[in-house]
Amino acid sequence: MTMAGECETGEEVGCILLAEACLPEQRTVDGKAFPLVLTPSSPLESAVDACKLLHTCRPFLEQKLKEHGALFLRGFPLCGGVDFHAAVEALSWPTLPYIGSAPRTQVVGLVYTANDANPDVAINFHHEMAQIADASTWPSKVLFFCETPPLEGGQTPIIMSHKVTQGLWMQCPDFMQKLEDQGLRYLKVLPMVKDPAHISLQGWPVVFGTSDKEEAEERAKKNYNAKVEWLPEGHMSLSSGPFKATKDFGQEGGNAWFNMIAAYYSGLSHKVGMSPKQPYDVVFGDGSPLPEDAVATCMKLHEENSVDIPWQQGDLMIVDNFLAMHGRRAYKPPRQILVSLCR
Ligand code: FE2
Repeated sequence: MTMAGECETGEEVGCILLAEACLPEQRTVDGKAFPLVLTPSSPLESAVDACKLLHTCRPFLEQKLKEHGALFLRGFPLCGGVDFHAAVEALSWPTLPYIGSAPRTQVVGLVYTANDANPDVAINFHHEMAQIADASTWPSKVLFFCETPPLEGGQTPIIMSHKVTQGLWMQCPDFMQKLEDQGLRYLKVLPMVKDPAHISLQGWPVVFGTSDKEEAEERAKKNYNAKVEWLPEGHMSLSSGPFKATKDFGQEGGNAWFNMIAAYYSGLSHKVGMSPKQPYDVVFGDGSPLPEDAVATCMKLHEENSVDIPWQQGDLMIVDNFLAMHGRRAYKPPRQILVSLCR
């Protein structure tokens, strides 16, 4: 993998309405630009023009997304949630509802805020909804839109997922073999009511859309393949899985690192137990702890392979959710990044 520098701005990319652009943060992964940066070949007047172009170019964008893993679109005159929603509709990929416990606000249609977690919280790399048991609900595309760029930081970093799997097989083969054999269990405690100091942790009645414990248990089983235990004060403790840690989505070069280790690992559940103060962990399928050094190698591989493009107003990023992972850097507000999940 190298930093980009080989691409030429304005180069024809096989669609006369779009030209390739270059950004200093891009990389070349397996000989391809990551992400592929595209811009309109000639300036667009309005959001309506932008939507027409996106609609016309949809088959081309779909093909390039498969080849490159992520597309970054700059120079489209889109302003806010309504424009983004129109752009998503113009692309005509079926939109999906979000299932999970991330704090998100529905803006218009199935357009959400990307994540309402406090600005100082960095969100580790993950595939969207990889912790959900039913594969038919997984979005294959995650579309991001920058309504308001952050004052500082706040990038949505991306990595090609198979690079992490490849790197771990080379550096931690015993860990990878145990993962293959055992899979992973995710442990999580959802409080009864959201603690305002811990905005990233939703209350279980909000997550499951019911305050009936039996109904919530049913939904936890269906969505997460989770067993539930009730803790004092009505907190809900979930143990879900086992799930496979990697998935074959047909990527040349290896399986995707399709798991939530980076988002869930704390290494604390065996030491202090689970509680709303210690709400996340991930363990092997047999319940044994993940080795700290292998998780550290995983996190190092994430950072080594990451591409962090600073957002500008109107930027769109389309991520193939089966080939690439994404996260969020901490930021200085304001920042408004919107998201839509598509099949
Ligand atoms: Fe996400």
